[in-house]
Order: sequence, then C-alpha cells, then structure tokens
Amino acid sequence: MNEFECPTATTVLQAVDWAARKLDGRPGHVSPAGHVSRVESELLLGEVCASSRLGLYLDHDRRLDPLESSRFSALVDRRMRGEPVQYLTGRTEFYGREFEVSPAVLIPRPETERLVDHVRPCLDGVHHERAGSPAVRFADVGTGSGVLAVTLALECPFARGYATDVSPGALEVARRNAGNLLGDRHRRITFMQGSMLAPLDARGPHALDLIVANPPYVASREMDGLPEEVRGYEPRLALHGGEGGLDYHRELIDQAPRYLNAGGMIALEIGAGQSAAVARLMADRRAYGNVEIVKDYNGLDRVVSAQYVG
Ligand SMILES: C[S@@+](CC[C@H](N)C(=O)[O-])C[C@H]1O[C@@H](n2cnc3c(N)ncnc32)[C@H](O)[C@@H]1O
Repeated sequence: MNEFECPTATTVLQAVDWAARKLDGRPGHVSPAGHVSRVESELLLGEVCASSRLGLYLDHDRRLDPLESSRFSALVDRRMRGEPVQYLTGRTEFYGREFEVSPAVLIPRPETERLVDHVRPCLDGVHHERAGSPAVRFADVGTGSGVLAVTLALECPFARGYATDVSPGALEVARRNAGNLLGDRHRRITFMQGSMLAPLDARGPHALDLIVANPPYVASREMDGLPEEVRGYEPRLALHGGEGGLDYHRELIDQAPRYLNAGGMIALEIGAGQSAAVARLMADRRAYGNVEIVKDYNGLDRVVSAQYVG
C-alpha cells in the first residue's frame, strides 16, 4: 500500500516541494538544508514527466494529471522505504555521461572516476609507444554496469577492451550501456561471462596492457553495518569481498602476470583502510614494480596500482 499520496491537482512546483519535504523527514535521513531531498524529488518527478530537472522549473505551474500524480506518489513511496533513487529512475551519471543501472548492478560511485583518471595515461603511453599498432588492450574485471570499460573505450578510442562479470544480468546492462554510448563502436568492447580473468584464457597469455577493476571489497564483518540502502538493494555479489574483504584483489594480483604484457599495469579500487594491505600484496610478488597508492578527490586512498615487470 502506498502511504504517500501526492495531493491531487497539484502543480509541478508544488509536487517537487511536497516530495522534498516528505523525503527530508524520512527516518534516519540526514540532508543538509534539504538539498539532497530536493534533487531526489526533482529526479523522480522528472522521470514521471519525462523531463529534465530544468524542464520541470520551466513548466512549474502545469498541473500534474492523475496518472502522473499516482506514478510520482508510487516512486516517492518506494524512495521513502529506502530504494536508491538511481534504481527508481534506472539511471546514473559517471564521468559526465548517463548510464543505465538496474538492481543487477552496483550503482557506480563518483570515487571510481579516479580509477579512470589514473589509468588513462597508461593507455595513452602504450598507444604512442606502439604508434597505433597493435591496438592497446585492457580488461575491466567485474564490469557491472560497464562504466569503466565504456568510459575507457570512449576516452581512449584507440583501445580495445574486454569486460568480464559472473553476473549475466550485469552483462546485459553493460552491453546496453555500450550500445547506447558507443553506438556502432560498441564492438571495441568484448563482454564475457565468467569469473575474473578466466574468460580471457582463449586469447593466450600476455595479451593485455591494462587490467582495471573495482572488485567487491566489503569484509564479512562489515556487511551487516552497511547502510540499508546499500545492503537491502545493491547485489551482494558486487559488495562482499570475502572474510577480510580482499579475496578478489588477492586473486587478481595473483592471476594478472599471466595476462599482462611486460610494462602493463594493474589498477584496483580499494575501500577504506585497505591500501597498505593491497600494496603489500603487489610488492610481495616479484612480478610487480612501481607500486602506487592513489588518493581520490576527497583525499582518501582509493586506487592501488603496479606495473608488471615481466
Ligand atoms: C563493486 S562491483 C563493480 C562494478 C563496476 N565495475 C563499477 O565500478 O561500478 C563488482 C562487480 O564484480 C562482479 N563480480 C563478482 N564476482 C566476480 C567474479 N568472480 N568474476 C567477475 N566478476 C565478479 C559483480 O557481479 C559486480 O558487477
């Protein structure tokens, strides 16, 4: 049952105000001066009215029709119960572009953009060294919605990518994002279902110049403490990184030398407090050099990378 009914015959602006107040008052919600709630209200109403946030204000005194009112009420109700706004609208932004998301994928986080910024010079460098041929190749392991693979393919048009995931539902979303954003260049990315780098075995050893991944990294003991919006809605498969949180990092660091060219890079996103352990895992393997810990734009350790020395 929907507990939250948007008042009838309300205008666009009144509806935005109504939902922003509701969302601001929901239990456990902290939103400085209501900014977040207002943006969420605008995104949800924009979804119902097929309008941008600006478009809503240009049309602020139009009255919602009964269907719009009831669809808006239903979305506000679901948001009040904790469902992430990105799953309600089916969209999110990453690196300045709109990506489709669904409950089959992790909602991409802005922090992950740092991973893109960090690895781009590596792809550019290999491209210039090779004067364009053979093509630079990267793998995005655990691609989810495909944000990393698609963004790299767009930012580095000379590169070819492989994107793997164990989740067929995630790969469907990733393929659609590649189709929407890359158009007929979507074949630059080969999507493959399977665990970690195993789907690439058929391509032979040392076929990659870059391995990039934002692996699941929440430790078992931290899973229960995640906010309800994350724990209750995002796929566990995208979150849980094993007992200590680093099972996937360990496996990738172990496997990567079989797949990377000499001089190639592995770059992994990490969670809070994991940088030293991941850097140690890389440094302990003689196969790697130039181990680097990279901070995100909030000053927190976010990426650990290393070069495969061959
Ligand atoms: C933290 S999410 C990252 C998604 C996306 N790369 C991003 O940054 O938004 C981790 C992804 O790894 C996938 N995954 C989990 N276990 C895997 C495995 N063994 N092999 C490949 N992918 C896996 C999950 O399905 C999920 O899509």
